[in-house]
Amino acid sequence: MSQSHQSTDRETLIATLRDYVEQIREEGLDGLPADRSNAAPVTTAEPARPRDPATAPVASRVPPPAATSRAVELFSKYPGLESQSSLEQVHEFVGDCRRCKLWPLRTNLVFGVGNPAAELMFVGEAPGADEDLRGEPFVGRAGQLLTDIIERGMGMPRSEVYICNVIKCRPPGNRNPEPDEVAACEPFLLRQIEIVRPRVIVGLGTFAVQALLKVKTPISRLRGNWHELHGIRMMPTFHPAYLLRNPADKRLVWQDIQLVMNELGRPIPKRGGA
Ligand code: URA
Repeated sequence: MSQSHQSTDRETLIATLRDYVEQIREEGLDGLPADRSNAAPVTTAEPARPRDPATAPVASRVPPPAATSRAVELFSKYPGLESQSSLEQVHEFVGDCRRCKLWPLRTNLVFGVGNPAAELMFVGEAPGADEDLRGEPFVGRAGQLLTDIIERGMGMPRSEVYICNVIKCRPPGNRNPEPDEVAACEPFLLRQIEIVRPRVIVGLGTFAVQALLKVKTPISRLRGNWHELHGIRMMPTFHPAYLLRNPADKRLVWQDIQLVMNELGRPIPKRGGA
């Protein structure tokens, strides 16, 4: 057999194995852990680990993910993105983005803010009007509530977590992002997740969670249970904008937040809730 045939066969075999491992991860196999989307919430906690990149021992960092076939597919869209090794570099790579139809409508691209070594990452849907003007996620009324949840509810400064959105530019009139817009931004979000390597991702609201998990299940059924996103534990919860309209459901978000705090091994402040 020629050398080129041999390497093509090897690549095909590797791709098949990757797909198979992903399938097992999703569907489960006797004796191996399956996707726990419908399992009871996990409440056991690992001890908190230092996340200051300067002081964190190398062994305490979440290990880098194996390149899944999904990641390979996403990064093949933007050659070079995969090798950007800091959030600043990714931001620069995104640049004055014109990769989807939203760019002429935006004031600012809203990349993300916060601790590049955060244990906890929040992912929302898309920038609104305030965020578009300021170039920062979650700075409007819903953002103030998110800040309260983080600071008063969880007892952490907002600057300790990382916050971003599924898409980086404001859709006109705050309509839901469209599939091509999500697809255009998805490789950037994946690289942000890979670089921050949080221990937990909190998905905010129906749209973000459905887009991240590629499901159509209502948020009311997804929340309160652990899911997995690119190898990281993800807790869906209601969007703060929804909570502004439905304050009675803050208690459900508080339950979700307590699961997150347990997972991070952090103490739950006495008077939670924003
Ligand atoms: N809603 C979101 O989903 N993201 C923001 O940044 C602001 C409001």
